[in-house]
Amino acid sequence: MSRRATSSRLQLAALLLLGAGGMAALVAACGSSTRSLSSLSPDELNQGVTAFATVQKVLQHPRCQNCHIPGDAPLQFDDGQPHAQGILRGPDGKGPPGLPCSSCHGTENPPESYGPHAPPGAPGWALPPPEHKMVTLGVSGAELCAMLKDPRENGGKDFDALIEHVSQDKLVLWGWSPGGNRAPVPVPHAEFVEQFKLWASLGGPCPPPSPPPDVPAPNAVGAPAATPPATN
Ligand code: HEC
Ligand code: HEC
Repeated sequence: MSRRATSSRLQLAALLLLGAGGMAALVAACGSSTRSLSSLSPDELNQGVTAFATVQKVLQHPRCQNCHIPGDAPLQFDDGQPHAQGILRGPDGKGPPGLPCSSCHGTENPPESYGPHAPPGAPGWALPPPEHKMVTLGVSGAELCAMLKDPRENGGKDFDALIEHVSQDKLVLWGWSPGGNRAPVPVPHAEFVEQFKLWASLGGPCPPPSPPPDVPAPNAVGAPAATPPATN
């Protein structure tokens, strides 16, 4: 038996030994005892859907959705123009072998002296892989919500993994210090994470399929709400 199999069995045994009380404590320590959707009161359902509205506002901000696209060319700027130089997703999201994202984008933003149009950077700068594009651009709240919590579409993440991703991933954090004169995500990061956790703790309730017409477009950044940005 391989060492890895042994150690994962030991971990499993340790978890079983913790017993129900231990597990509850462990789950509480991770901050995510997830409710089942069917157990929610109407008030809680409302609370969860309201929390999701904040999550949606962030995910559909240009700093985030410029990479979470249905097409294969990343977008730029607040109005989502196709990336200059005809850049493409490539077989794994990291660009075609001849011109990977990393040939221009580093692991951090370049110094300000490089000017406002230097390529921004963060570790792992890439598009999601073609098998799961994690599209946030141009989808409804209901579609976004369903994608976000579906492990087949979100890269195999459960709520805990999603919370870790939105709390700590450097590519996500980049949205709050994007460099150049790019506008950062306007919702404070701490508030985003708090609302994300609240949504997850309530089991991830989703808004109804077609939102009432008076709900403002989620990606309105002080701009007129109606027109969604062009998909490439
Ligand atoms: C040939 C160099 C080059 C390559 C290769 C490249 N980029 Fe860029 N990218 C840039 C430059 C330069 C900018 C900044 C443009 C500006 O602000 O005027 C940029 C900006 C961006 C932005 C804009 C951020 C925003 O919110 O406005 C995204 C997203 C992006 N690149 C994604 C990618 C991805 C993903 C890849 C690989 C699939 C990639 N780029 C490959 C040079 C490159
Ligand atoms: C440069 C491109 C890029 C930018 C900008 C970007 N992401 Fe992502 N995002 C990715 C990639 C690549 C993955 C896949 C990561 C993995 O699975 O390893 C991903 C995965 C995710 C996921 C996990 C799964 C899912 O279904 O969505 C979330 C959540 C997410 N990003 C949120 C954000 C948020 C919030 C922002 C803005 C603050 C953001 N991203 C900005 C490239 C980007």
